[in-house]
Order: sequence, then structure tokens, then C-alpha cells
Amino acid sequence: MKLFGSKKNNTVPKQQNPATPSTLPVLEKGMVSLVDIIAPSSVEVDFRSIRVGEKFYRTFFAVDYPRYVSANWLQPLIDFDNQQDISMFIYPTSSSDVLSDLRRKIAEMEATISSQAEDGKVVDPKVSAALDDALSLQAELAKGVERFFQFGLYITISSKSHEDLEEASKRLLTTLSSLLLTAKTATLQMEDGFKTTMPYGQDKLFISRNMDTTSLASTFPFTSATLTQEKGVMYGINQQNNSLIIFDRYSLENANEVILGKSGAGKSYLIKLEALRQFMFGTEVIIIDPEGEYKNLTQAMGGEYLSFTQSSPIKINPFDLSGLYEEGENELGFKILSLHGLLRIVMGELNAAQDATLDRALVETYRQKGITPDPETQTKEPPLMEDLYKTLLGMEDQVAKELAFRLEKFIKGSLSGIFNQQSNFDIKNPLTVFSIREMEEELRPIAMHIILDHVWTKIRKNLKKRLLILDEAWYMMKYPDSASFVYGIAKRARKYYLGLTTVTQDVEDFLSTDYGKAVLSNSSLQLLLKQGATEIDLISKTFYLSEGEKELLLSADIGEGLFFAGQSHVAIKVIAAPFEHEIITSNPIEIMNMQKAQPVPTATITETTVKTEPYVTQEPINSSVQPENKPEVQPSPTQQAPIQNTDQPNVSQPIPEQPVVKPPPQDTNQSIPPTQ
Ligand SMILES: Nc1ncnc2c1ncn2[C@@H]1O[C@H](COP(=O)(O)OP(=O)(O)O)[C@@H](O)[C@H]1O
Ligand SMILES: [Mg+2]
Repeated sequence: MKLFGSKKNNTVPKQQNPATPSTLPVLEKGMVSLVDIIAPSSVEVDFRSIRVGEKFYRTFFAVDYPRYVSANWLQPLIDFDNQQDISMFIYPTSSSDVLSDLRRKIAEMEATISSQAEDGKVVDPKVSAALDDALSLQAELAKGVERFFQFGLYITISSKSHEDLEEASKRLLTTLSSLLLTAKTATLQMEDGFKTTMPYGQDKLFISRNMDTTSLASTFPFTSATLTQEKGVMYGINQQNNSLIIFDRYSLENANEVILGKSGAGKSYLIKLEALRQFMFGTEVIIIDPEGEYKNLTQAMGGEYLSFTQSSPIKINPFDLSGLYEEGENELGFKILSLHGLLRIVMGELNAAQDATLDRALVETYRQKGITPDPETQTKEPPLMEDLYKTLLGMEDQVAKELAFRLEKFIKGSLSGIFNQQSNFDIKNPLTVFSIREMEEELRPIAMHIILDHVWTKIRKNLKKRLLILDEAWYMMKYPDSASFVYGIAKRARKYYLGLTTVTQDVEDFLSTDYGKAVLSNSSLQLLLKQGATEIDLISKTFYLSEGEKELLLSADIGEGLFFAGQSHVAIKVIAAPFEHEIITSNPIEIMNMQKAQPVPTATITETTVKTEPYVTQEPINSSVQPENKPEVQPSPTQQAPIQNTDQPNVSQPIPEQPVVKPPPQDTNQSIPPTQ
């Protein structure tokens, strides 16, 4: 064998530029073409490697494959941590030729087995296994279930130096042998091997192996799920295959989204990022911000930041009517139901007599302002909370008096400054943030409810692509009345081109109520970020997670989790560009560093907060109104743990007791009855 005769160890002179054949005029011959510029300075072909320019390459071919493979079995090769080019060549073969070959082969193997048996030898198990394979393949081919192919697999790895190449080759062979795949170096055929793995579609080695359709299908390397749409905003990166997760939520069944994750998992970061990107696409964004952490974002985008404090100049009147007439909908009726829900949160549990009295008082209060179910009358100035209070006092019965007493905090107490006056602003800015951070913890659910109701009343008036974000939604989900209100919005949002984002760390509260579940099932997009050990079982039951996915959520890093769109889900990693990160991070260290580096310009923000007089008039709040226990307060940005602090103990949130018995959503959707 002339093993060394074919040695090609010589530096190949740079190939002549094909674009300039010798027939071309002298001038053109001397001109520089693109190929001249991109061509490597030299190519050196060796026995076991080829050097192109500064890089070394080595090609391997597969000679033997495992007997059994599962789907995507080549994944470890695809993920192999070295630069590599993989070529697969598939040659369809005529089944009839294969069948006749197979017949002969089967006869041979049967003969071998029977002669071994006659000689009293133990039958070679390899032969009998091969015979089984051949027989089943024969049957499948004859039936036409399978087709027959020849398959060639070539891998070229590259490295900066010869040593690295040797090392990478060893690792590659180890990886391949762990797959029970035997590969050999294409010794003395490096140039052909190199060309074979170039994207020319030319198999210059032609080392193939027989395969049927099923085996071939399982070899196909791109089986990890991709969840992406043609257009939309990017939510993150698919952790399995690094593809982008891009979705246009407005093109889905509904545009709602639910995000669940423990405190510090990166929920707010994710919604800020999404809000930012949606905003860029012309979506109007409205955020209810209980933690005061959307200020930077608002500032950067020139949005309006409305901060609710006892003495804030912005007022919202919960009695506002939309002034909208929709066929078959009784606007006033809805409003009274909604107020009823709100007042139940304010006043605490009401018995049947109190409920009825309150209802009468509400109708009477509107009537006194000349407002009746007739839409014509509904453009008149709406009553105030004070008017309801007076009506109740005027009713002169004990039940009404008691209710009036419970309502006092709206009139004299902490809420009077904001919610006992006519509304005095409109949502004009395409990015409007309502901050209730300054409100006392126990008043936040009430404030949230009123703001949400106000926003809902306003946005129904003119149709626009909108995103409504409810961060820390558990404030509302823990009261059946406000939970039912949120559900009502989620259900009807689509009609108004609205996407509702509900974010909560309190998975138990959210998923254990019918309203929470209903909001979830009315959300096309669902995101699960890191979960604590106490919630994981409920989560995995609700989302039908596998063990692996449970593990993933338990051990997820900040910004990692599962992204669900319809039936499919993938592992996601939320990634922001540096300039986005600057705007949305709530890491106090980073914020401090940024402030040091560059004082934040305050001119662009339209912040409407004036604290003029200290709040003094607050009366003690009726204890029946208060939630039994104080929910976990999320650390405010200034106290928040730095980003690296991922392994904080999971302080799971106590489950607040439900103040009233929850009816199922479909029976008493108090706040917003279903539309026709
Ligand atoms: N994908 C991410 N990349 C980088 N930092 C992140 C990411 N997600 C969150 N963070 C940081 O982690 C911290 C906690 O995130 P945050 O969104 O406030 O958590 P949550 O709202 O779930 O309690 C913040 O400092 C935030 O800036
Ligand atoms: Mg948050």
C-alpha cells in the first residue's frame, strides 16, 4: 500500500482567482477582488490536520452507530463545546435493491447460526441480534413503513493551535464514544474532509452507513422546541438552543400575561423590560406600581409618574362613570356592583341586611345627583364618597349608621385626600405609572382597586393598543371582591385591545382561588420564574410540570424560568441590553453607581407628587377591615438585596385568611358581569 506516496504535506500556493481568467485584459487581472481579500494567506494540508490561515482543522467520520437511539440523540455532539462544522449526507436508496440484498444477508446469517448450532457451538449473540434487526427491517421495508437510506456523518473541529486541536479531538472522541458512536480521523484525507464539511453539499469522503427512516429521523439534530413568532417583542432566550423567544401577545387568543415567581426572582425586571419594548412598538403602557420601582423607567421614557400620597394633588373619584353607552350594558348597574365590591373591602364583611342597605344607599346617592340608569343622565357630575356617607347617615336606621361609621376613613381618614374628590386628571401620557408606595400597606389594596377601576373606566372610552400592568397583584387577589374585579378585566380586556399583565409572588393565594385560576386560564402567556419549595408542588400540579422542570424552577437563577405560550413551553432566560438594564434594574448598588457616574436628569419626568401638609386627621381604622396578617413586604429598592444575592432563604409568604366566603367566579362576578 502506498501509504506515504500520497502525502500532501506542502504549502499550497494561493489559488488563482477564478474571477480573473487569463483571457481577461491585463488591467483587470491586476485588480483586487473580494476573493483576494477574504482568502487565507496559506493552506497547509497535513496527514491528520489542515491549516487554513492561522487555524487548524481536523475532520472525523462516523463508522459505527449505536443499535438503539432515542430522539435527538446527537444533542451532546451538537452542544459540544468547541468550534465545529457538522455535515450529514443522506442518500435515499431504492427499497427493492435493499430487499434483495437483505434476503441474501439473512440467508447468510441463518446459515451461520444453524452451522454453529450443528457444531454444538454457542450461537454468536451478535449474529442473532443482527439477524433480528435484518428480519424486522425486511418486514418494514416490504410493508413500505420504512424507507432505506445511506447516511454519512462528518465532523470538522477547529482550534487555534495544534495542541488545542489534539486536546479538542480527544474530547470529541470521548463525547462520541459516550453516545456509542465510533468515529475515526479522516487521515490523509484532510482536504477532502474539510471540503466535505463546508456548506457546499459535496460528500468527498463518501463513508456511509445504512439507516432506515426512523433512525434517520432521530438523528435529526434540531429537535429542541423553539417558541417564537415572526414579529413581536423579545421576551428572552431559549435556554435549550439559544433561539430567541419572540411573541406578539396581541396576536394571541388574548393579550393577557401572568408572571409567578418568588420575591427577587426577577418578575418586575421582566415586566419592565417587556413594557419598555412594547412601548417602543407604540403600545400605551399603564402600570400600577406598589413598590415605587418604575420611576427610572418612567423617567427614561418621558412618562408620567403619579404618586399617591395622602396629600397628593391627584384625585380619583371612585364614583366616576365612563359615560359610555353600550348596547345591553347597564353602566350604572356595573358601577354600583363595582363600588359594592370596593366597599366590602373597605368595610369588611357585610351581612345581608347591611348589603341591602348599602345597595339602596348607593342607588340613592346617584339619584340625588340626578343620575339614573338612563345613559343620558350619566354625563352629569358624579357623587363623592362623602355623598354616600351623608346618604347613609340620612337613612336614620341603625344598620346605615353603622355602615356610615365604617366609611369614615374615606371622609375623614387617610383616603379622603385622594378618593373623596372629583377626578382631576386624565391618562394622556403613553406611559403612565400610578405609584401607591407612599400609601400605608393596608390601604394599598383599596387604592389599587380604585385606580384599576378608574383606569378601566378611562380606557374603555377610546380604543388603543394598551398594556396594563398590575405588579404585586396579590394585594388584590387576596380579596375575593377585588380578585373578581381583576378577573372581570382579564376576561373583557381583549374587546378593548388591552393586555393585562398580572404579577405575583404569592402563588398559593393566586392559584388557590377560583378567580386566580380564572385569570390564569384567561392569559395566553404565562411565565414561571424561580419558585420556593413550598409552592413548587402547587405550581407543578397546575402547570403539569415534569420533574426536570420542577428542578429547573427550584434552582433557577434570577431571570430564569419557564415561558408558556398556549400548549408549548420552553426554558427562558431574560436578558436585557446594557442600556435597558440601566433603566430597569432595581439593584441598589448598581443604581448608586449609576447616580454617581451621572446625575439623573429630573427635567424629563412629569411627576405629580406634592406633599404639602402632614397627614394628621386619620382616624383609627376599623379593625374588621384589616387583613388578619400583614403580608410580606417586598424590600424597597433601597433595601433590596444586590443581584448576586440569589441564595437568600426563601421567606415564603404567610397565607392571608380570606375575609369572606368566596363564591365561584361564574356565579357572582360582582364587579363586572359577563358581557353578551
Ligand atoms: N434578567 C435579569 N438580569 C439581570 N438582573 C436582573 C434580572 N432580573 C432581575 N434582576 C435584578 O434582580 C433583582 C430582583 O429583581 P426584581 O425584578 O425586583 O424581582 P421581583 O420583582 O421578582 O421581586 C433586581 O435588582 C433586578 O435588577
Ligand atoms: Mg417586584
